[in-house]
Amino acid sequence: MIQLEDKHYIGEGEIRFCYEHPEDKNLCIKIPRPETTRAYTNKELLYFKKLSRRNKAKYQYPFYSDFHNEVKTNLGLGQVFDLVRDETTGNISKTLEYYLMESKVVPDEQIESALSDLKQHMTKYKVFTRDLRSRNICCKLKNNNSIELIIIDGIGHRDFFPLADWFHYFSKKKVDRTFTRWYFDSLKDQRDFLRRD
Ligand SMILES: Nc1ncnc2c1ncn2[C@@H]1O[C@H](COP(=O)(O)OP(=O)(O)OP(=O)(O)O)[C@@H](O)[C@H]1O
Ligand SMILES: [Mg+2]
Repeated sequence: MIQLEDKHYIGEGEIRFCYEHPEDKNLCIKIPRPETTRAYTNKELLYFKKLSRRNKAKYQYPFYSDFHNEVKTNLGLGQVFDLVRDETTGNISKTLEYYLMESKVVPDEQIESALSDLKQHMTKYKVFTRDLRSRNICCKLKNNNSIELIIIDGIGHRDFFPLADWFHYFSKKKVDRTFTRWYFDSLKDQRDFLRRD
């Protein structure tokens, strides 16, 4: 059984707590809150199972934090995911929300261009998200001064009849809608949305 301690704590949201994996610095363990149902977790894991059949070697960069397995911990059953770290320092990457609201080290043009890359990847590889908030995207700082935006939460979709899984026309429409729905058509819209929240 894996022992998670306060020193491993990274952050939390409405659904779960996130801890650094004590045995692997490139993984994290997510522990659902007591009120999070098993059905919710199962649904998410089912979508990752579907994604696991993709040829990830084709991706230009790993644009979502992938699920690995479940583990027993002192805090209950946890789900193991890729942990996003900055290449520059090895520190755990901050979220896009942090770079939009609290730090000015990444210029807006760079964020805009990385968002466009993320959108392209989601469309091309048909990976969808229900919850494209900037707190659910990590901004990985790279040594060559570039950044990569990586989805860390909210992967999946609710479509009963998933046309977007099969046809480019629908996947493009779906991803475009997601970006608009979460105020990513401009950084001004996004910052206004974050201030309102
Ligand atoms: N793979 C990761 N790499 C780096 N940091 C992460 C990762 N996953 C989660 N975090 C950090 O932990 C926080 C909470 O994790 P997560 O978003 O998975 O929780 P949640 O309860 O599902 O969130 P929400 O309230 O958006 O549903 C994130 O906002 C982020 O700061
Ligand atoms: Mg979250």
